[in-house]
Amino acid sequence: MLDRILAALPRDYPWQAGLQYFDSIDSTNTYLKKQAALGAPHGTAAIADCQTLGRGRLGRSFQSPSGCGIYLSVLLRPNCPPQDLMHLTCAAAEAMCDAVETTTGLRPGIKWTNDLVVGNRKIAGILTENGLNAQGLVDYAIIGTGINCCQQPEDFPPELRSTAGSLAMALGRSVDRPELAAQMLAALARMDDALFTGKERMLSRYRQDCITLGKEISLVRGTEIRHGTALDIGPQGDLIVRFRDTGEVAPVSSGEVSVRGLYGYV
Ligand code: BTN
Repeated sequence: MLDRILAALPRDYPWQAGLQYFDSIDSTNTYLKKQAALGAPHGTAAIADCQTLGRGRLGRSFQSPSGCGIYLSVLLRPNCPPQDLMHLTCAAAEAMCDAVETTTGLRPGIKWTNDLVVGNRKIAGILTENGLNAQGLVDYAIIGTGINCCQQPEDFPPELRSTAGSLAMALGRSVDRPELAAQMLAALARMDDALFTGKERMLSRYRQDCITLGKEISLVRGTEIRHGTALDIGPQGDLIVRFRDTGEVAPVSSGEVSVRGLYGYV
């Protein structure tokens, strides 16, 4: 697998030396967190065929069976204030849409903030995790992304069967996983290049891809549920919502809320 990923990487991919492949690992994000503490450089990346403890947002697990998906994390060391990186998950989602489109011809939609969706089914998720140094600057930012490539409906556990999907289900054919992994790495390197200089352009593309905009949504924060309409994406990648109960228009940041369509997952 690693040989095929390396062969598919563009010539100008800048982080080849820091690429590591695992047949099985607990979690590529957890691994890179440990590597960050050991001083691993910007651009270090980990890809796994399978994860035994794949993690998602809000403390959820992420199903990561062997032979079915791409589970990939990249370590960045931006050394900037954390508020300058608020748009990182949006930028990563755009990069993953680019990678899927380049590989398959199909451009997923984005369910704010971090789910890639095709035909009302989640095909990928993104988990970004930051650590600060003693000066309060971002010591590391890890972008972890898992894309379902080959699963069929019966491969998902019953509780996910109505909402989870894969590229193979959407396309009706198999997907070249090494090629997709290479395109994901290349897209993340391009994203990193433009992370600060290309923020406005990235956000305007994100707005076009974001299927949450214009929808009636429910926002779940712990036990609190509020309903509203998703109006726009703010300058930091936050969701601008008009709340139904008060009529107030306010930004919501992705840290602690889960968003669902009022009548289903999207
Ligand atoms: C989500 O959907 O809530 C985010 C899922 C993120 C999964 C990826 S797979 C690679 C990396 N390693 C992990 O443990 N999680 C991320």
